[in-house]
Amino acid sequence: MALMRREQAELRSLNTFGVAARARELITLTDVTDADVALEQLARAPAQLILGGGSNILFSSDFEGTVLRVALSGRRVIGPLDSDDGILVEAAAGELWHDFVQWTLSQGLFGLENLSLIPGSVGASPVQNIGAYGVEIRDRLHSIDAIEVRSGRRRTFQADECGLDYRESIFRRGLQSAWLLTAIRFRLARVPQLRLDYADLREELARKGTLTHPQALHVAQAVCAIRQRKLPDPAKLGNAGSFFRNPIVEPPQADALASRFPGIPLRPESAGSARCKLPAAWLIEQCGWKGKRRGDAGVAAQHALVLVNHGLATGRELLTLAGDIQDSVEQRFGIRLQPEVVIV
Ligand code: EPU
Repeated sequence: MALMRREQAELRSLNTFGVAARARELITLTDVTDADVALEQLARAPAQLILGGGSNILFSSDFEGTVLRVALSGRRVIGPLDSDDGILVEAAAGELWHDFVQWTLSQGLFGLENLSLIPGSVGASPVQNIGAYGVEIRDRLHSIDAIEVRSGRRRTFQADECGLDYRESIFRRGLQSAWLLTAIRFRLARVPQLRLDYADLREELARKGTLTHPQALHVAQAVCAIRQRKLPDPAKLGNAGSFFRNPIVEPPQADALASRFPGIPLRPESAGSARCKLPAAWLIEQCGWKGKRRGDAGVAAQHALVLVNHGLATGRELLTLAGDIQDSVEQRFGIRLQPEVVIV
């Protein structure tokens, strides 16, 4: 199909915050053979943005440039890997993440079950190294096909070349919109190796009576149930999931916080690490923001880390609210929260 182009395009339905914003031009890429033409047009624009599912973005104003929306579709099982007993699976960048996860499970391929019900597209998944309930994309990623926006050069990135870290990758750090990701490959398994380290997940499985003999499908169902209970559905209440990253603190600061704020939920960053991770949701709730509303911009009643659009909030209003939350957490705890959502 030919490239779709629109001028003065409304982006409200293309971001899960449901914020109104206009792009000077919107190009929708549905066929990878049109990528070169699309990138030539993008190169001529005064400002450029590559958009996936729009589930991790806040438009603070209109976009005075060209937005390239990636709507490439297709998924396939490639087959067994030579290097180990993994099975290689590929999806085009525009596939919906949750649909893809469900499809892998229906193929008897395991490894993504903990990442069920995350909004957004497959192409966005490595950009911010999505993670939930003890699994991150970096645990499952095999490789990425990409096209350099500036030159049109094709390149395959192996997983270890992507700089994946907590909600980070080279595609976010400085290279935002430098590469158009077209296809993502994952290393999955025929025999599930379930990850049940997350306490919430074990509790949910116990409640459903499946903790003693869990299967991957039970894990997927439990993750969906937790998410439905804890996180607002973007189809009903605009939001972009966690708005801030969970801060990591060095040991001296962790000790100081623990003695000043007894009961503060500090956890090791990873097994054996001296650095600690602190739930941003807890910090925000302690400052009294949970469930607060200012006009149509607010903090979700069920989870303090999620900013919500009750209807007609503007990106500016949400951004102002986020700034006030950052200020009050910093005043009380001496920690400046960093947004996880990309602000444009
Ligand atoms: N908490 C509060 N108040 C709240 C909610 C949570 O105090 O309103 C505290 C509790 O102590 C709770 C802790 O925060 O134990 C952690 O909460 P939760 O398990 O909901 O996880 P999170 O740290 O807030 C992270 C990810 C989520 C992911 C969950 C589950 C980040 C920024 N967020 O949230 O990812 O689903 O863990 O693994 O790391 C996303 O990135 O958009 C996202 C939703």
